[in-house]
Amino acid sequence: MISSGIVTVSYIAATVLFILALGGLSNQETARRGNWYGIAGMTIALLATIFGVVTRNYELLLGALVIGGSIGILLARRVQMTQMPELVAILHSLVGLAAVAVGFANFMDPTVHHTGVEKTIHDIETYLGILIGAVTFSGSVIAFGKLSGRIGGKPLTLPGRHLFNLGLLIASIWFGYQFVQQSAGGAGLDPLIFMTVIALVFGIHMVMAIGGADMPVVVSMLNSYSGWAASATGFMLENDLLIVTGALVGSSGAILSYIMCRAMNRKFLSVIAGGFGTGGGSAATSGDGEEQGEVVPIEAEETAAMLAGAKEVMIIPGYGMAVAQAQHTVFEITKALRTKGVNVRFGIHPVAGRMPGHMNVLLAEAKVPYDIVFEMDEINDDFPDVDVSVVIGANDIVNPSALEVPDSPIAGMPVLECWKGDTTIVLKRSMATGYAGVQNPLFFKDNTRMLFGDAKETLDAVLKAL
Ligand code: TAP
Repeated sequence: MISSGIVTVSYIAATVLFILALGGLSNQETARRGNWYGIAGMTIALLATIFGVVTRNYELLLGALVIGGSIGILLARRVQMTQMPELVAILHSLVGLAAVAVGFANFMDPTVHHTGVEKTIHDIETYLGILIGAVTFSGSVIAFGKLSGRIGGKPLTLPGRHLFNLGLLIASIWFGYQFVQQSAGGAGLDPLIFMTVIALVFGIHMVMAIGGADMPVVVSMLNSYSGWAASATGFMLENDLLIVTGALVGSSGAILSYIMCRAMNRKFLSVIAGGFGTGGGSAATSGDGEEQGEVVPIEAEETAAMLAGAKEVMIIPGYGMAVAQAQHTVFEITKALRTKGVNVRFGIHPVAGRMPGHMNVLLAEAKVPYDIVFEMDEINDDFPDVDVSVVIGANDIVNPSALEVPDSPIAGMPVLECWKGDTTIVLKRSMATGYAGVQNPLFFKDNTRMLFGDAKETLDAVLKAL
């Protein structure tokens, strides 16, 4: 056992390291260091908690650590880059589940004694911890289902769904009142259970109602919820580190949700109200996929010749680049073009791929220099001067209907306006729609050429031709 003084100092050190980790992760050059800060902070936090806070049942703790740790290592080693968002969603669900379990355990623990106002406050903390935890749990499980394709991306629009949500909110407030009242008399389990069921239903309904295109916001929102659930648990257990760490996760998730909303020109409340975008990718003949003109295919050799003859090239990566794992070939092509004097830049949409920073991670993995990778806002006005834009497995993020068709399901979302350049070459396997399930008029524009096939294979052919 270590003294409470050492625990406090360790907790402060861990908190500082977590803050440094968040600071580091906000920039590509410092992200690796940020990760190490996070790992160091978590190691200190775990050691201080195990040897300074836990006093009994070490066998159980060890068993849980071995089982949980092994599952974590196995999952992290197995997961493909494209499955990362699903993994993140399911991990959020575990945070929520833990908050629910700790809340119930703490409520039933006969050794926990509070009286008077303190008891009321503790009851409210318990109630809120379980409430947020249950919403996070069921919402994240549904998000996992949607992101992994096990559940369709189409938003569920129940008749009177806003009234339904309002009813659930009022019921949980009423059960909260009941819980605090009954708990004063030594009871209260029933309202706690009723509220948990309501919160689970609310989590499911909330995420089911979200349209495919809003999923990025929902993932970061659930990330934020999982932080607040942990923070409420911290209050319940009187653990300062958990309060602070939860608040850090909660607020950074909330900031990320805000950034995502701004990137997609959406209001947070309308995201919660749901219905933006339709379902997962589908064939062009379904949905609003009526013929919009002629599609002009192109071959790899011709693509290589166009790129070699260009002065300004903009590469726009999307989810398909992640699926094809084409990032290394993309960088080889970039290097080949740069030695020919072509100015190659990358344009990154904030919601390209399936998780925040997805494309940046892939490009960093392939060692693409950061100074040629630009955010959408930085380069969107430059397209009129671009000779060739290469869209690699991207679809929704270059869809002009977001700007041109007011009743499009993705209307209002800012997109990379590549069609304003001389030529756009789109690499994809078919005419299927993207994640939001919306047909893309870019493919039918006069200055667009379609290079069909798996992005890795077609880019290998382009590289060979170069
Ligand atoms: P999408 O709109 O999903 O389009 C990706 C395209 O890649 C598809 O049309 C697909 O067409 C093509 N593709 C798939 N595998 C390929 C391969 N092996 N080779 C070549 N092409 C391939 O992706 P995006 O443009 O990156 O947009 C992201 C979408 O995901 C947005 O709607 C966004 O809201 C949503 N989303 C984003 C996030 C975050 S945080 N970034 C999270 C959840 C959802 P084919 O099938 O014809 O090849």
